Amino acid sequence: MTFPDEGAENRLSRRPFVTEPSTRSPSPAQKSNTAACVILAAGKGVRMKSLLPKVLHRAAGRPLVDHVVRTACGVLAEFGAHPPIVVVGNGREAVTPHLTAEFPGIRIAVQDPPRGTGDAVRVALPLLSDETKVAVLAGDAPLLRASSLERLFAALDQPERPAVAFLTAVLPDPGAYGRVIRDGSGRVVRIVEAKDATAEEKSVCEINSGIYAFEREFLSRAIPRLTTKNAQGEYYLTDVLEMAVAEGLAIEGIAVAEPSEILGVNSRKELALVDSELRRRAIDLAFSCGVTIVRPETVTIDDTVELSPDVVIGPFVSLCGKTVVGAGSQIGQGAIVIDSRLGSGVEVRPYSIVEKSVAGDGALIGPFARLREGTDLAAGVHIGNFVETKKARLGRGSKANHLTYIGDAVIGEKTNVGAGVITCNYDGYAKNVTTIGSNVFVGSDVQLVAPVAVGDGAVIGAGTTVTKDVPSDAIATSRAPQQNLEGAARSYHERKSRKKASGAKGN
Ligand code: UD1
Ligand code: CA
Repeated sequence: MTFPDEGAENRLSRRPFVTEPSTRSPSPAQKSNTAACVILAAGKGVRMKSLLPKVLHRAAGRPLVDHVVRTACGVLAEFGAHPPIVVVGNGREAVTPHLTAEFPGIRIAVQDPPRGTGDAVRVALPLLSDETKVAVLAGDAPLLRASSLERLFAALDQPERPAVAFLTAVLPDPGAYGRVIRDGSGRVVRIVEAKDATAEEKSVCEINSGIYAFEREFLSRAIPRLTTKNAQGEYYLTDVLEMAVAEGLAIEGIAVAEPSEILGVNSRKELALVDSELRRRAIDLAFSCGVTIVRPETVTIDDTVELSPDVVIGPFVSLCGKTVVGAGSQIGQGAIVIDSRLGSGVEVRPYSIVEKSVAGDGALIGPFARLREGTDLAAGVHIGNFVETKKARLGRGSKANHLTYIGDAVIGEKTNVGAGVITCNYDGYAKNVTTIGSNVFVGSDVQLVAPVAVGDGAVIGAGTTVTKDVPSDAIATSRAPQQNLEGAARSYHERKSRKKASGAKGN
């Protein structure tokens, strides 16, 4: 199966390390001033009430931490910098292999046990090379935009050379977030955790996002000086701000335009909020790439899906996993497409399910079709209603339009599979293959008892049970001869009406 690659640059690109387009290109000075990102992902995530580590919970089809890593990778790549460092701890048996497989070159630091955000940064410091700026991001805050991370790095270049720049948000209900305390002239003097705050401090609505950029030398100097003298007995990263103030260094608090951008996931409810927001962004991106979506509020698109211009998506469609949809394809109402590649001009009609399958240009699927794993349709194949396929390859222009099961089968070109045909692929012990050539006509209600092969150009009569190979150009039939008992139906109907008259039940 081949796919049109010429559309690749138009395709809505969500390839690894590519995120939203960068809003500006860094100056040459910034390029030499290399940046690092440390992503904190060692925390417990108690409120998720889950066996799965928090950062591996998925939003818009990707683990939470992947969104943060991808944003960081995109920005770091602009600086020609090293990939990010992720601090892992809780659940690291699962988190580390996931990250190293998904992001080659990523650096992992282990924090065990987790003793606070300051301690998490401490374990990452030895992995830094010559970077002069270090961003610290939260692995559970996946809505951070690349533009905000760029702003943080750029803030450190301002004339007053701040030691710290961090994102803040003003929330009507600041809850458990750390509060940003400013002095009379509006300068940030410290961050106080909600659990350590006085009632007056708690009434402050400007909160700490937990997303920062630090001047590297300052950070290296400050981290070893942290203590655990606080309500939670932890090393708070936030305490380094006070140290900057004590050294007479500037701190830059940057308010984000949309407060949702800094939303961290601590509970299932917040996971759902973040998931909705990421999917809203995926839909906006699809619109901007020339995709039509009918009733977008009902449509679910994973962040991992690639779409092309002039794709039309109907209401209640779900496009999931590593799905790629070529130009001009139409996905009808209620269809579900998972981990599949559709060429251009493919039509998936309503309420079809397509999983781990491939469909070539102009293929027509459904309505109510089910394509299971390993289905591979060449260009122009038609799969109609109530047809199920599994590990089935159909050549160019072949058709199976009604009520059929095709499993473990290879079918040539321009072959017609009639209504109700079944490949009997399972003999109770093993799966067996059915091979059908090109230009074959398989009549209705045929059973092909695998392993069995049908040659090119053969015709199989309706109702045939094929148990032996059929040579090319042969006609195969296996019907019991039909007998007609003249007039017998009349006496059958008479018996029936006599029964009715005598009041017997049934018919
Ligand atoms: C932190 C900030 C708080 C801010 C909030 C924003 C501190 C002391 N407080 O609080 O001011 O408003 O984030 O969401 O920094 N982590 C580790 N190792 C640890 C502890 C945490 O890697 O030992 C990671 C977590 O996995 C998470 C991130 O750091 O990704 C934030 O940790 P969390 O415990 O959620 O911090 P908060 O108490 O929410
Ligand atoms: Ca948190």
